[in-house]
Amino acid sequence: MPLVNPLPILKKARQQKLAIAAFNIHNLETMQAVVEGAVEEMAPVIIQTTPGTLEHAGIPFISAMAKAAAEEYRIPIILHLDHCSSFAIAVKCIRYGYTSVMIDGSALPYQDNIKLVAEVVKVAQAAGIAVEGELGRIGGTEDDITVDEREAAMTVPGEALDFVQRTGIDTLAVAIGTAHGLYKGEPLLDFDRLAQIKELVDIPLVLHGASGVPDDSIIRSINRGICKVNIATELKIPLAEAIKNSFKVNPAEDDPRNYLGAGREEVKKVVKRKIRLTGASKLLKR
Ligand code: 13P
Repeated sequence: MPLVNPLPILKKARQQKLAIAAFNIHNLETMQAVVEGAVEEMAPVIIQTTPGTLEHAGIPFISAMAKAAAEEYRIPIILHLDHCSSFAIAVKCIRYGYTSVMIDGSALPYQDNIKLVAEVVKVAQAAGIAVEGELGRIGGTEDDITVDEREAAMTVPGEALDFVQRTGIDTLAVAIGTAHGLYKGEPLLDFDRLAQIKELVDIPLVLHGASGVPDDSIIRSINRGICKVNIATELKIPLAEAIKNSFKVNPAEDDPRNYLGAGREEVKKVVKRKIRLTGASKLLKR
């Protein structure tokens, strides 16, 4: 089947207190690991790329690989643009077949964030594409967006309602204490804040920075309205470890099929575990 818009699946996830996992990929092997893992778990899956990855790999290559994966397998596959602050890149991705885009104006003043997001919503909704916005600021480092963890402000529930109403977004990324990248200690999530946001806002909520968040906190978040769980760092680490290990075992290794193949297998294991944690397989059942 073609790449799909995630909204029907996310709405079902909201009703059933389940979530879909969204994995950041960087190349063919990481995309294969995500898709094959999802196929083995019989679950829908979101493949996502940041603008930095698009600069590295090229939008046409990523979109062609994702379309090929969707045609090859019988699970719903979504191609999503993650943390994009550029109207032009978001529109380009839509033209190339992305079925969901995040427009991240969270670094802008509130009114400017609304204006940027509403402009993307207008274009995306006309094309049948879902839009994710972000309110509050999620700490840590991802690509060129760096927010000092102390400065990172959490989403204010009343503002979230206003933001959703004024932008028309389909999903909302919330700042409730998670951060991109690795945590120094155990992350403390503000579950009460999340529950309040869910009470006010009737669209699916997104958890960024899920790498390193304990499983029980992920489950508690899903029970309080999180319908999309974003994972990047926890895939990067096993990929790098497997490649390093290939060279340790055979310092003369020069066949990328061997070291990238080993990386792909390790990434796939994490993908499968995270998919099981979200309960996403149940979303394909009636
Ligand atoms: P992690 O790198 O912490 O998994 O964050 C991923 C993310 O939120 C992508 O948007």
